[in-house]
This record gives sequence, C-alpha cells and structure tokens, in this order.
Amino acid sequence: MQFTPPDREVFHRLLAWRRDVREFRTDPVPEDLIARLHEAMDLSPSVGNSRPWRVIRVEHAALRAQVRQQFETTNLAAAAAYDERRAEYERLVLAGLDSAPLQLAVFTALDPEEGDGLGRQSMPETLGQSTAMAIYTLWLAARAENLGLGMVSILDPEAMTRLFAAPADWHFSAYLCLGYPLRADDDTPLLHRVDWQENTASTWETR
Ligand SMILES: Cc1cc2nc3c(=O)[nH]c(=O)nc-3n(C[C@H](O)[C@H](O)[C@H](O)COP(=O)(O)O)c2cc1C
Repeated sequence: MQFTPPDREVFHRLLAWRRDVREFRTDPVPEDLIARLHEAMDLSPSVGNSRPWRVIRVEHAALRAQVRQQFETTNLAAAAAYDERRAEYERLVLAGLDSAPLQLAVFTALDPEEGDGLGRQSMPETLGQSTAMAIYTLWLAARAENLGLGMVSILDPEAMTRLFAAPADWHFSAYLCLGYPLRADDDTPLLHRVDWQENTASTWETR
C-alpha cells in the first residue's frame, strides 16, 4: 500500500480539524456508524497486541445523571484549586455531558490475558498508553464521519469504577462524549480561543 499526496492532504486536514467538542446536537448517532467507529478503534496499536481498552456504552438516563453529578463534584473541587483564574475557569465549558447522544466510559484492563505480558513487563504503563492510542484513533475516525468527540477527565477514577461496577483489574481511563457538533467552523482549540492556553509548539531536541 502506497499513500499519495491527495491522501496526505486529506489526512492532514483531518488532523488539523479534529477538535475536542463540548457542545452537541442531540440527534442520535446511527447504529451502523457506531459499529464503524468500534471497528476503527480496534485498528489501534497496543502493547503485545493486548487491546486492553474496555468500553461501556452508557445509555441509561440514571447512569448518565450520576456521571454528570460526578463531573460537577470533581469540577467544583478543581475550580477551588485556582485563585486568580477561578472565575475564568468556571466560565469554561469542559464537558458535553448534557447533550452528547453517545457516551462511552473507557477503562483499561490492567492484566489482560491477551499478549501474555509481552512488551509491558518493565513498563506496565504501556497498557494505559495503548488505551490512549485507541481513543485517539476513535477521535479521528469520528471526525472523519463529521462527528465530534469530547474527552472528559474531570472525574474521580475510583467513583467511576464503583458507578460502573467495573472489575477490580480495570482502571478508569476516560469518559467520551460523541455526537454531531453544534459548530465545526473553527479550527482553533477552544482553550486557545478563550485565552486559557494558547497552542504552543512542543520541543524536539536533537542529541
Ligand atoms: C487526556 C486528555 C484529557 C482531557 N480532558 C478534558 C476534560 O476533562 N475536559 C475538556 O473539556 N477537555 C479535555 N481534554 C481536551 C483538551 O482540553 C483539548 O484536547 C486541548 O485543549 C486541545 O484542543 P483540541 O483537542 O481541540 O485540539 C482532554 C484531552 C486529553 C488528551
């Protein structure tokens, strides 16, 4: 397989126009599209090919309400950590939990049989890294379908484990909100746009 300049152009546009989305239209995501997203996520690399991500699709209104409550509690505690910027922090929209039609709780299995430990004996954190890569694959696949994805980490992992009665060897990784975005006409990240944190180039050293 050889990729062409037009392929690269499309791929770069996908990277540049992927955004973290926190405001969604409420119309549902078609089931066949959700199935494609699931398949795309499973194309991700993982340590020892262990595929340690465990995804729970959250549909029950009561469960969603508990996640929202959990977010509110954690976000309030996070806001309290800011002094001068507290009011600015409180104005930020940091999750689309009220509107996202598709919501996924993502855990990482900490001792999966798959892969038989290959690649992670000296670096157990590679399991979480694998889940992060799978989330990014899902993020790009969703964007290519004109969906938005918002990643929510302002949650207490232990509370989320209890809420979903997750097995003891699953670690909570992230909560994902998906749906059609209210707007997709700005390629500037929200935190940059509202002057919280502008995009800066990362450092690459040569030694
Ligand atoms: C590990 C991780 C956790 C994140 N947690 C949150 C979150 O809890 N709430 C939120 O609004 N955005 C969250 N984000 C999104 C980032 O704020 C966003 O990626 C960043 O501001 C750059 O914007 P962009 O994704 O639109 O390029 C998270 C992103 C990552 C990678």
